[in-house]
Amino acid sequence: MGDPLVFAHRGSSADLPEHTLAAYLRALDEGADGLECDVRLTRDGHLVCVHDRRLDRTSNGTGLVSARTLAELEALDFGSWHPGCAPADGDEPPDESHTRLLTLERLLDAVLAAGRPVRLLIETKHPSRYGGNVERRLVTMLRRYGLAEPGPDDPVRVTVMSFSPLAVRRVHDLAPALPTVLLLEVLPGWLRLGRLPFGARIAGPGIALVRARPQLVPALRAAGNQVYVWTVNEPADLELVLDAGVDGIITDRPAQALARLAR
Ligand code: G3P
Ligand code: CA
Repeated sequence: MGDPLVFAHRGSSADLPEHTLAAYLRALDEGADGLECDVRLTRDGHLVCVHDRRLDRTSNGTGLVSARTLAELEALDFGSWHPGCAPADGDEPPDESHTRLLTLERLLDAVLAAGRPVRLLIETKHPSRYGGNVERRLVTMLRRYGLAEPGPDDPVRVTVMSFSPLAVRRVHDLAPALPTVLLLEVLPGWLRLGRLPFGARIAGPGIALVRARPQLVPALRAAGNQVYVWTVNEPADLELVLDAGVDGIITDRPAQALARLAR
């Protein structure tokens, strides 16, 4: 088995504000195989890369992302909260790649301009709240970019993830060629350790689950699934998932994982 893929979780988000263009470009510079992002819908139906339901933690706004229009969100600062954005004495303030809201379109444009193969792991958030619109709009956008039916030699290969079996099934029904990840925070009672249900090809257990269940990764793989683990930031966890033989490592520190793999 070859080295696992290294995915930058929300970009190189230990060093720079998560989900900003700067964090993603840093990850590409560091040599990450792929980028992870979360998407949710604005009030006027645009897909934006924001993890939290609310604006308060990662911007100078307050309230729900879904209650704001794209134009309102574009006026906010999504970077200055992060220590990696604090200008040292005499330095210029961070440019807008560090502070501007990232739309999924801008991320796709950046990935397509990377000049090398890049994988993109897109997680849809809160599918029940949006009644399937996130997945429908996502697949429509991926079709427009020619990314919904990926081929092995395509420079950009998209995989869609969700904690919601319903969302995974929906993406599979809308675009059967798109690989999907069923994310797992705990092991649900209904999950059998055979081939994954809902059309998912990849299991996405959290690192806490992998620590608690050392046989989980080998069992999922033996049943013919791939396994991507999140969020692997600590050196001891990196060793754990490498020993377990995972297919993908999702981390806030892609440079650390790549150095461990001597890449
Ligand atoms: O990559 C999967 C992981 O991102 C899921 O958790 O909360 O970081 O979106 P969260
Ligand atoms: Ca995520």
